[in-house]
Amino acid sequence: MPVEYPSPSTPSLPRVRRRALLGAACALVGGPALAGAPPVLLRFSHVVAPDTPKGQMALRFQALVHQRGGGRIRVELYPDSQLWGDDEMEALRLGAVEMLAPSLSKFGMAGVPEFEVFDLPYLFADLAQVRRVTQGAVGRGLLERLARQQMRGLGFLDNGFKQMSARRALRTPADYRGLRVRVQASRVLGEQMRALGAQPVVLPFGETQRALASGVVDAAENPPSNFLTQGLAALQPHLTLTQHGYLGYAVVTHPRFWESLSRVDRVLVDDALAEALAHGNRLAEALDRQALATLRQTPGLRLHALGAAEREALRRHLRPVVDGFGRSVGAGLLRDVQRAIGSG
Ligand code: SIN
Repeated sequence: MPVEYPSPSTPSLPRVRRRALLGAACALVGGPALAGAPPVLLRFSHVVAPDTPKGQMALRFQALVHQRGGGRIRVELYPDSQLWGDDEMEALRLGAVEMLAPSLSKFGMAGVPEFEVFDLPYLFADLAQVRRVTQGAVGRGLLERLARQQMRGLGFLDNGFKQMSARRALRTPADYRGLRVRVQASRVLGEQMRALGAQPVVLPFGETQRALASGVVDAAENPPSNFLTQGLAALQPHLTLTQHGYLGYAVVTHPRFWESLSRVDRVLVDDALAEALAHGNRLAEALDRQALATLRQTPGLRLHALGAAEREALRRHLRPVVDGFGRSVGAGLLRDVQRAIGSG
C-alpha cells in the first residue's frame, strides 16, 4: 500500500516566497483551477523501510508536493520493495514507476560505470567528504551522465557507511575467508569481497534477510539503519564496525515523465525534492547514530570496533581494488573526486 504522511513543519522564508511566486504562476497557467483534470500520478518506489534516510526523504517529498501542488500531482510512495525491488531501474525505463532513489552502487551495472567510484573501499573518511563530491561540480557532472541511460538525475542523498555482519567477528582479512557475502550488483563490491577471500553473492536487497535466514549467504554489508530496519540483528550476531564503504543514493526520474510535466510543476517537484533531500541528508547522521545506539542495546548482538591497526590492515588488503577500478572509472574522474575530497 502507498504510504501517506502528515504535513511537514513550517518552511523557511525564501521557500515561502518562491512558493508564493509559484502559486501566482499556477493561477496563470490554470494550475489547480483545471477542475476535473485528473492529477498527475508520481509513483515513488524504493526498497528500504520508511524510518531510514531514504524513507524519510520520500515522505517529506510527498508531503511537500501535496501541500503545494493544489491537487495537481499525486505522489504515491511504495517503500520496502512493495512495488519494485532491484529491478526498479528497468521499471523506470518502461514507465511503470516515475521516481526512484537507487543506491549509487546499482548505477554501474545499469550502464553508468562512473558511479562505481562511490563503491571504492575507504575512499571517503566521513560524510563531509562525500558531500564535497556529491554537492559540487563533480556530483552535477555525474547526474548529467545518467541521461545516457534514459534517466534524469535530480539529486544525491546519503545513508552512511557500511559495516560488516556475520556469525563471527570480522576483525582481520583472514576472518572473511570462505564466507558467502551478499553484495549489491556492483563490480567493485564483488571484487572487494574476492580480495578478502570471500565469495560475493549478488542478491536484491529485499531478498537479503531470507537469504541470511536460510543460510544461502553467511554475511552482509549494510549501514546501521538498513541493518536495523531489515531485522538483520536477529540473524547476524556479530556486527563489525569496518566503515569500509559509503552507501548513498541518486534520485532519478525518466526524461519522458519529466518533460510531460508543465514548467510550473517541474519547479514544484524540483523545489520539493531539494528540500526533501536536504531534510534526508540532515537526518542521515542522526539516524545512523540512533540505529547504532539501538543495536548496541540489542540482546544477542555484539558490536566490534576495529583498532587503527586492524582498519589499516583491511585498507591495505583492499588497496588493489581501488587501484584496479580507479583505472576503469577513469583517472580523470578519480582525480576530480580526490581533489573535491581534499578541498575541505
Ligand atoms: C538501499 O539502501 O537502497 C539498499 C542498498 C542495498 O541493496 O544494500
